[in-house]
Amino acid sequence: MNVDTLITGITQLVTAQGPAVRHGTAMSDLLRIDDAAIAISNGAFVWIGKHQHWQGHAASTVHLGGRAVLPGLIDPHTHAIWAGDRLGDFERRSAGATYEQILAAGGGIRSTIQATQLASIDQLVTLARPRLLALLHSGATVVEVKSGYGFTPQAERNMLYAIRDLQQQLPLRLLPTLLIHIPPAAVGSRADYVAQVCAELIPQVAAERLATAVDIFVDQEAWHPREAETILTCARANGLAIKMHTEQFHSIGGLELALRLRALSVDHLEACHPSQYAQLAASDTIATLLPGVSLHLGIPCAPGRRLIDAGAAVAIATDLNPGSSPLFSTAAALALATRLNGLTAHEALVAGTLNAACALGLSNAGRIEVGLPADMVILKSNDWRDLVYTLGANPVQEVWIAGAKATTSPQGCE
Ligand code: NIG
Ligand code: FE
Repeated sequence: MNVDTLITGITQLVTAQGPAVRHGTAMSDLLRIDDAAIAISNGAFVWIGKHQHWQGHAASTVHLGGRAVLPGLIDPHTHAIWAGDRLGDFERRSAGATYEQILAAGGGIRSTIQATQLASIDQLVTLARPRLLALLHSGATVVEVKSGYGFTPQAERNMLYAIRDLQQQLPLRLLPTLLIHIPPAAVGSRADYVAQVCAELIPQVAAERLATAVDIFVDQEAWHPREAETILTCARANGLAIKMHTEQFHSIGGLELALRLRALSVDHLEACHPSQYAQLAASDTIATLLPGVSLHLGIPCAPGRRLIDAGAAVAIATDLNPGSSPLFSTAAALALATRLNGLTAHEALVAGTLNAACALGLSNAGRIEVGLPADMVILKSNDWRDLVYTLGANPVQEVWIAGAKATTSPQGCE
């Protein structure tokens, strides 16, 4: 066999397997090859196995000198595009105000919407680029990015145009989602806004292929399930997948609606209650945990352990955003999930790779497998568990996307 590149010096190659959603106990089912080698041609994995079993010829060889290699991480929930900051909120919360109180008083998400609406597309790109590079250097190879701070149809589209520009500039694979974040402040105008979203925004976004999914925030201070049903049904009719921010603070019927509409994922779940675990487990919807939110807001942690024990398929994301989760490391999100949501290291890896890919509807990512794009993380360590053990330092040495090194040392790899 002739290949472009052979990678050797791999102490441990560890990957989730198979294209299927991994429910419950299957989340511990990892393939591990010690003293491994990986062959790559045309940007895809073409051979993996024990180095001693390799019998081909490689145009070039890269010797890692004894490091663990994992699939590229997938971050299936971020709000990486925003302008302004939420440092004032942070200070108020440190003095006792809650996130919901700040939102109900017209601040929080609404203040980020005001700042983001004023920014040009180029300014949004400039602000978001270093945030996405931080995720890349922490191991992410695929990142979902939401709109949702635009509010008006034009400003929402501008956020999606910024994501499209970033796709051209960065080696990362970015998946854009249209987020219908919060309703207008004036009570009487909610129905009009829903009508505008369905008549104008969603059809335009679908026609211009600016997003692959529509997400909506369902909670007491956000949208009601009946409004979400109208918007998500429209998204479906326009050929877009659906996702939901739900059960973050209160359980008001969002989860049940999302499961009925066969959402790709339900995200947050800090207020998820035991009677819902089995419903989630019986569905193909992925339960996406956002441990950065529990850490930053001091709210309950989503019941990851109990969801997995019930048989649900769990994913993990940073939820990178200025208000509830200023977490700029996908690896750290996995590390937090082992502490805050009760996942084992094995489960966290599956949740941050294969299941995270499923949360985005991707079948060709999240695994090291012959035929798939050669996206992988090379750790500094010779033991893969350092990915989820490490706190406060970057365990990632290099990230490769489609068979090429995508990270550079000065941007934080060393
Ligand atoms: O995922 N809960 C709603 N939306 C975001 C937070 C956005 C913000 O606070 O700016 C979230 O937590
Ligand atoms: Fe979010």
